[in-house]
Amino acid sequence: MRKSILSFILLVCASMAVCQPRIVPHGASARISIDGTNMLILGGELSNSAATCTADIDSVLPRMATLGLNTILVPAQWDLTEPTEGKYDFTLIDRTIQKARECDLKVIFLWFGAWKNSMSCYAPEWFKKNTRKYPRSMTQSGKPLEIASVFSENVFQADHRAFTQLMRHIAEVDRDHHTVIMVQVENEIGMLEDARDHSPEADKLFNGKVPDELVDFLKKHRNELHESMRARFSGHGGTWREVFGDDLYTDEIFMAYHYAKYVNRLARSAREIYDIPLYVNAAMNSRGRRPGEYPSAGPLAHLKDVWHCGAPDIDLLAPDIYDTGFKGWAAQYALPDNPLFIPESRCCENSGVRALYAVGEHNAVGFSPFAIDQAPATDTQHLTKSYNLLRQISPLLDQIKGKNAQWGVLFDQEDRERVITDGPYSLTCRHYFTLPWDPRATDGSTWPEGGAAILRIAPLEYIIAGSGVVVTFQTTTEKQQSESRTLGEDGFATAGSGKTTKQSRFQGKRLGIVYVDEVKVSADGSLVYQRRDNGDQDHQGRHARISVGEYRILHVKLYEY
Ligand code: DGJ
Repeated sequence: MRKSILSFILLVCASMAVCQPRIVPHGASARISIDGTNMLILGGELSNSAATCTADIDSVLPRMATLGLNTILVPAQWDLTEPTEGKYDFTLIDRTIQKARECDLKVIFLWFGAWKNSMSCYAPEWFKKNTRKYPRSMTQSGKPLEIASVFSENVFQADHRAFTQLMRHIAEVDRDHHTVIMVQVENEIGMLEDARDHSPEADKLFNGKVPDELVDFLKKHRNELHESMRARFSGHGGTWREVFGDDLYTDEIFMAYHYAKYVNRLARSAREIYDIPLYVNAAMNSRGRRPGEYPSAGPLAHLKDVWHCGAPDIDLLAPDIYDTGFKGWAAQYALPDNPLFIPESRCCENSGVRALYAVGEHNAVGFSPFAIDQAPATDTQHLTKSYNLLRQISPLLDQIKGKNAQWGVLFDQEDRERVITDGPYSLTCRHYFTLPWDPRATDGSTWPEGGAAILRIAPLEYIIAGSGVVVTFQTTTEKQQSESRTLGEDGFATAGSGKTTKQSRFQGKRLGIVYVDEVKVSADGSLVYQRRDNGDQDHQGRHARISVGEYRILHVKLYEY
């Protein structure tokens, strides 16, 4: 009986190829599943030219493995893959896969095809020079841009031929290994200088009607539309201006639809060849820029509905987060219809706590700082320590998925506190430097960010995996009745900051700390005691803390009294 069940499972697995990498639901978010096992992507993206010769691949990949990554994101450049039209060279792809296997790393290839950061700089020479066959986008003034036209079937066919060859090759060499777990289609697509292409072909389509497909999609998903789309969409068909209004944002919507359709044709073919997860990435529209001033029409949050309509074969729309406001950008992509994956982010000393935040708060599919091969050890050491924590808590995240029992906190000098309400309990989380006793808090230097993933693993039991944070625990009723006092560096209230008015009688229960233990987490999710953090280390039972620069996992057990 057991044997027949096993053979049935194996048969289903083989016939549906369920063991191939794929995106699977994980609570309200997702994970990549490889050979039936979920993996949290602890990634790093190589700088653009780091893997353009075999010698560099040989030296960079082992170095990446020692940093504690489990996945590297590596460009697959069109010009190096098809230097002569119709002749493909996969030497660099093969070497990357081979080295990655030796180093126990997974690979995400980034197709630098027709577009890379808006431009067509990675198109091969034979493509670049033949502008008659492979036309460029045009500004309103008629200036050609080094941006291949999304409206040209020749551009598409050339790009498609090369991309599908790449997918075919990956399938051939990796189908039985699953080293390559995902592919990014193009890189930071978007129009620059003008919000849309003004070539005659583009103008003709722009002056025509919005395709029914898009109008119907927006009507059908009216309640889930991005707020800016909800405000713009007229609710009926017509020309682009009639449906979306007469301004630059309509130009952008028009381009987004056509970029998405183009990408989806690539994605659909790729899936027919080798069905692994596919995503697209976006440069953010930060600092108040308007369409045309940032790479417009890419998979930006305010265009997610257009991209979802035009590119249903893409699994994820992913933000590249370089600007300030990490939490805000991440939140815009962590949606019920789009799990958060951060393929690029500035590699810095704050990368470690940002990764913990993204996974804690949004259960992110993965995180990956850019140009990790060029970052100094003073920065990457934070990521290594943080990934070590994330790797450990990953089984706990599996156990609590879908239970609303996880949070992420991220603090800097301005944004110092967050109160988490967990049913009847309040967790007041702050930057470690809000404590009075660390001189680095007041010596004038910029505070490194502090952050953590916080998990409720059982009633009155929490895990805090992070760096540079302090957490106090109260019942919500206790919190409502509490008063704030200024503490001196010895942890006692400073003179004169105590109560001055008569207090009303205390109501309800309080929360106390049974213990704070530093732990390690084993692969099966069990906690392994390391040391006890009571006494001075938890301010005699008042809080749990991890100082700036330390990366630790604390197990906090609480009781009511
Ligand atoms: C985002 C791009 O996707 C990367 O390839 C690289 O150009 C970085 N920007 C540079 O900051």
